[in-house]
Amino acid sequence: MAGDTVQQVKDRLSVVDVVSQYVKLERSGQSMRGRCPFHAEKTPSFFVSPERGTYHCFGCGEGGDIFTFVEKIEGIDFKGALKILAEKAGVELVYEKKGERDDRERLFELLEAATIFYSSRLTDDARAYLKSRGVEDGTIHAFRLGWAGESWSEASDHLRKKGFSENDIVLGGLAKKGDRGLIDKFRNRIIFPIADSAGRVIGFSGRIFGENASPEAPKYLNSPETPLFHKSRILYGFDRAKIAIRKHNFAVLVEGQMDLILSHQAGWANTVAVSGTAFTPEHARLVKRMSDNLVLALDADQAGIKAAGRAARAALQGGLNVKVAQLPSGLDPADLIVKEGVEAWRAAIKGSKDIITFLLDVLQEHAKAPDAFRRSVESIVLPFVGDMQSPIEREQQIAQIAKRLGVSAAAVTDAFERVPLAPAPAAAAQEPAPPKSAPEAAPRVRLAYAILIWQQKALAPSIDIAAYEAELTAAAGDDALASLCALSDMEHEALRYTAEQHASRSSNIRHEAEALLVAIREERLRADLTAVSQELKRAEAEGRESDVPALMERMQLLTGEIARLHKTR
Ligand code: GTP
Ligand code: MN
Repeated sequence: MAGDTVQQVKDRLSVVDVVSQYVKLERSGQSMRGRCPFHAEKTPSFFVSPERGTYHCFGCGEGGDIFTFVEKIEGIDFKGALKILAEKAGVELVYEKKGERDDRERLFELLEAATIFYSSRLTDDARAYLKSRGVEDGTIHAFRLGWAGESWSEASDHLRKKGFSENDIVLGGLAKKGDRGLIDKFRNRIIFPIADSAGRVIGFSGRIFGENASPEAPKYLNSPETPLFHKSRILYGFDRAKIAIRKHNFAVLVEGQMDLILSHQAGWANTVAVSGTAFTPEHARLVKRMSDNLVLALDADQAGIKAAGRAARAALQGGLNVKVAQLPSGLDPADLIVKEGVEAWRAAIKGSKDIITFLLDVLQEHAKAPDAFRRSVESIVLPFVGDMQSPIEREQQIAQIAKRLGVSAAAVTDAFERVPLAPAPAAAAQEPAPPKSAPEAAPRVRLAYAILIWQQKALAPSIDIAAYEAELTAAAGDDALASLCALSDMEHEALRYTAEQHASRSSNIRHEAEALLVAIREERLRADLTAVSQELKRAEAEGRESDVPALMERMQLLTGEIARLHKTR
């Protein structure tokens, strides 16, 4: 791949465009700032510099450009990132050789080819069925819905003709090897392509449909786990929802494909779905990249409420605020939207209650006596409170529970402390690995600030670099300057971010820089002074009389220099 292409992509895409697809960014001085997508954190320490096209996280030390960002966040290699970014930038990629494309790349192409195939085969019957479920043509098109016919191998045959190997077709989860060749996985089903967060199809879900469908067959069939498709990490619709989640600052979680599609069609593009699997802390993390708030809209039947409870705990453990939408009993979101209209769906979302209120309401309604209510609150509700990551929120909820039970908050706290702790959330949702390299912060900030001015005349056009360098050497010493010059590009970039953050707090940069040099110099002098005074003590203790005068003199000299430093300031 030509380096040209990389440059073209970099020229056309700003780092902010790319990163803000995944991270909510806010302006912070010259940079943009958000919560790091690479480690769990509550205070944003992830910075993006539009000028330099880079990002840096002070929490976990990750940093780089748009390519490393996409590689890391999508878990793909450089080529994959280039492909995504080139597409986004509208730059055409020219492959050197067909054979050079790696395995994942081939699977992505396979699933894309399959998606085109299935969607081209959507029959009038299937289309009519979708219509009867309220799905409009535009929605069918946008979600690339398709149809898998009843024959044993039409998809496999088509894909083989397109040049994909049997092995890849099996590896991609589209067929199994049978005695007489491949047998398609999806048959007689309406096909819902499932994409990763970058919008590339990685698997399918097929809903049974048609006269020839066997009555014992499962209603929905999903792709098996493949090198691309990992159920516990994928939320159906996330690729189309992420921007809207950030905009509305909440996500709606539904259970099924139909619910998702109809919710998007009804104007709630911030909806995502688990498809036939539990909501995991990993899912929570995906949502949390875009917003802290999740509204659960799972069926209001008994099983749905249980599922909502499990999902809520995973979400709370992942640091999300959780609300529960109010669905009329017996209706799932798809039914509600079609039978009662878009407005009813809006009301359900808008009327969502926070999870604790929701649980208290349900339990109170079903409890026969106050005593039973109290017991069920203790055993059912308190663990949810324990999952909450914010101590303030926990305290507020304890107050709410106390009020509802008519007891003191102290009593609820007491009961709460006896509740067994939740198992730790999955490793993925845990706090970060320790920073990669973190020398003491304060001197580093100052030096970073100094080097910023030293290197970036742009910030202080009047600065005389040579004089400044001499000043810096005098203040920080040759060694410090040499070691600053020997830093890697990555380390330099990290220093610049540090420096910028420091600089953004001050308007008079020249003045700050001078004060900084004085401070660094004073720090050095004081360190010397301490060393000499310790040496003096030792010399006295060991009776080395002859060393004392020289040391005394040196101390006086240093003290004088420090005093002078303050006078000139
Ligand atoms: P529609 O009838 O198409 O509206 O489906 P639904 O969403 O109302 O179905 P249901 O409430 O029964 O199931 C909820 C979700 O669970 C579905 O949307 C699927 O994602 C999943 N699901 C349902 N049945 C199956 C199944 O047999 N196998 C698997 N793997 N998932 C299923
Ligand atoms: Mn349904």
